[in-house]
Amino acid sequence: MDAVRRMTGDSLEARERRPAVELETIRLGLVGAGEMAEALIAGLVGSGRLEPGRILVNNRSNRARLEHLRSRWGVRTTQEKAALAEAEVLVLAVKPADAAEALAQLRPHVRDGAALVSVVAGLRTEAVLARLGRDLPVVRAMPNTPSRVGEGATALAAGRLAGERELALARQLFAGVGRVVEVEEGALDAVTGLSGSGPAYVFLLLEALIDAGVKQGLEYAVARELALQTVFGAAKMARERGEDPARLREEVTSPNGTTVAGLAALEQGGFRQALEAAVGRATARARELGLLYS
Ligand SMILES: NC(=O)c1ccc[n+]([C@@H]2O[C@H](COP(=O)([O-])OP(=O)(O)OC[C@H]3O[C@@H](n4cnc5c(N)ncnc54)[C@H](OP(=O)(O)O)[C@@H]3O)[C@@H](O)[C@H]2O)c1
Repeated sequence: MDAVRRMTGDSLEARERRPAVELETIRLGLVGAGEMAEALIAGLVGSGRLEPGRILVNNRSNRARLEHLRSRWGVRTTQEKAALAEAEVLVLAVKPADAAEALAQLRPHVRDGAALVSVVAGLRTEAVLARLGRDLPVVRAMPNTPSRVGEGATALAAGRLAGERELALARQLFAGVGRVVEVEEGALDAVTGLSGSGPAYVFLLLEALIDAGVKQGLEYAVARELALQTVFGAAKMARERGEDPARLREEVTSPNGTTVAGLAALEQGGFRQALEAAVGRATARARELGLLYS
């Protein structure tokens, strides 16, 4: 895909070796204190990339949630948007339906020179700029749910006023929760259709593999363990070998063997076409939702 500009990180070790260029010196403000905010905090604090005292977390109503983040990670918390004026980098991590309100509240309190990274699905960088009524660099990020266990896939896209400095900061933020690629903003709907919704496709694949194993006489727990490890191991092998998946598939397929029989059933059942349709429809839906929020 030519819209993909760069892929960062080939391995966990490489990710860990990459020097923190600037991140360690910034003050970070998180607007939103939910799942995504905590995944980012865990990635940053857990890896030592950013001292917890440099992170200020804000939400609107749930005080217990802020207390949890404070006691678990040592971050500072506030329900006052004015306190976020200290932040050199702001991360907008609220639900799409709450984004307009959060940006309106934030508007008078963004310091000059600050950058904003938005993880809000569907919200275009131009819409963020319009709602803030300020000229500042905005980077859009589309992470996915495995970010919560440090194995997310995140695509970044720079808005009109964002440059290499802001992209580098955003890369460092999300490298703590998985792998990072950079794309043009126009490609983010396709990213949503592929990796944003992708974990659910893989969960469906797992469900189907487990059920199929049980139908062939395996105990549920055994089928589950085998299915999980097969998906995990195949992904790891493809990652480590770096070869085209088609090549790896051919390598494990001998003529008249078992795998070729299984693959023929998948092709007859329209496996490829079904995945193509899934990514296509999810991409189209992301586009529709984006128009709704922007
Ligand atoms: N979770 C994921 O894996 C994932 C993956 C990709 C993209 N995203 C994107 O990340 C964003 C956040 O998702 P999430 O799963 O973290 O949602 P979440 O768990 O529901 O958290 C949303 C947070 O926003 C806070 N909030 C709402 N309005 C606010 C306001 N005006 N000012 C400050 N805080 C406010 C909420 O707290 P109060 O209600 O207490 O204020 C809550 O802490 C979404 O836009 C989603 O599209 C998430």
